[in-house]
Amino acid sequence: MNLSSLVKSFKEERQLPISPRPYINHSVEFKKSYTPVERAKMLEKVGLNVFFFPAEMITGCDFLSDSGTTTMTNKQWAALHLGDESYGSNRGYFELIKVIRETFGEEFFNNPEKGKSNAFLFHQGRPCEDALFTALGRLGEGQIIPSNGHFDTTAANIEINKIKAVNLFSKELTDEKSTSHFKGNMDTEKLKKLLKTDQKKIPVVYMTLTNNTGGGQPASLANIREVAEIVHSYKLPFFIDACRFAENAWFIKTYEKEYKNKSILQIVRKIFSYCDGITISFKKDGLVNMGGGLFIRNDGYFMKKYPSLPGGILDYQIVKEGHPTYGGMSGRDIMALAEGLKTIVNEDYLTYRIGQVTRFGQAMIDNKIPVISPIGGHAVYLDINKFYKGTKMKPEDFGGISLTALLLSLYGHRACELGYFAFGSYDQKTKIETHPDVNFVRFAVPRLRYEDQDLLSAVAAVKALHEKRDLIPKIEVAYGRELTLRHFKARFAFKA
Ligand SMILES: Cc1ncc(COP(=O)(O)O)c(C=O)c1O
Repeated sequence: MNLSSLVKSFKEERQLPISPRPYINHSVEFKKSYTPVERAKMLEKVGLNVFFFPAEMITGCDFLSDSGTTTMTNKQWAALHLGDESYGSNRGYFELIKVIRETFGEEFFNNPEKGKSNAFLFHQGRPCEDALFTALGRLGEGQIIPSNGHFDTTAANIEINKIKAVNLFSKELTDEKSTSHFKGNMDTEKLKKLLKTDQKKIPVVYMTLTNNTGGGQPASLANIREVAEIVHSYKLPFFIDACRFAENAWFIKTYEKEYKNKSILQIVRKIFSYCDGITISFKKDGLVNMGGGLFIRNDGYFMKKYPSLPGGILDYQIVKEGHPTYGGMSGRDIMALAEGLKTIVNEDYLTYRIGQVTRFGQAMIDNKIPVISPIGGHAVYLDINKFYKGTKMKPEDFGGISLTALLLSLYGHRACELGYFAFGSYDQKTKIETHPDVNFVRFAVPRLRYEDQDLLSAVAAVKALHEKRDLIPKIEVAYGRELTLRHFKARFAFKA
């Protein structure tokens, strides 16, 4: 028997419980060492707000965000050197047009030659949102933008323009018994109801892929298609917040039978064939540290309904960011992005990436730590209400903030409260605190940055704190309880 046939016959045996990473380390950075007391002193100095804690002092994992924290590939570092910093029409711009068309569809970046832009580059995701919602906001007050789950900056950019941001989370998201792999779906019954009563107030319907606010859960292609059909039946535009489009496509390939034999790129093309526009922060599935884009389908419902808006967005881009051929990005960043977009649709990469996040979440579950399940694509979400179940911690004690402060000072891991404090609000006049539906601490896993050992050490740290949850002190908000986007700015102290 020759070796090739022997290897073929060993099909079952080749399936091991763990596989090697599909990449190797190209360059590494050694961490400095700090003691828990040194970290605690620093955290006290910054009012227990982990956003202000110096990253250099993080001796564990930095789970604050998966946004802009990716480790770039050697091809991306090489591409940086090919960056062309010309003011107009730099080399990378043409590379990017090509790769955007290949990834999302020909119709999303195909008009600049005719002097009519349908693609706008920005320095990150939120200025794309600002440009779009400022333009829509001018159409009049009382508008509503529904979504399967708006991200916090998206909702803020909508509301700053006096438009109401509405989340139509799927029922499965909060149904503990549900084993759905697509808890990030939109509740289409709620969407139909809303459209029936308020269609005139709705300028656009949004879907976020994956649903970051909704536990990082993906949406199915069936749901994306259904939402598009409903929205289009009212001749309204349908937009996708595409930050984690490739991770969402991997879930579709893995869990939606129909797409099992399709490539990731084919699935991505299918997803975007249903929408009329895209806003994207390339700091996630662009695999770069900076970059964003707003892409509008030529001849789509948005272009038909609002033919004059792209011209206004173009002026906005020129005034606020830069010439349309670089937007808010440097030429070298554009080159790295063009390369990153080619890498992100690699199935081996995605299988490893999502597998790593799943192993991280599963290790939490194995240690009886309550997390949102199934595990999403980019983060593990700890359910804070369950974490403190049976203790004296109340919603207004902001136990998620206590947990992040202790985790960082004791064990050197930085996680992010995205729950009662981040998404809640406080009315100074009535002294009433309003709590959101969800109460999470999010452990976002940066792309290509950590090994499993790093993540398992974080699980051990959370486990140790979970076992001592009765002793975790409550939080007092020292500053900023009434502010908008308060989690970025507030200061805290432990209650005596
Ligand atoms: C779903 C989603 N939309 C929009 C944004 C905003 O992108 P940026 O941070 O680049 O402004 C983020 C950032 O995390 C996000 O997760």
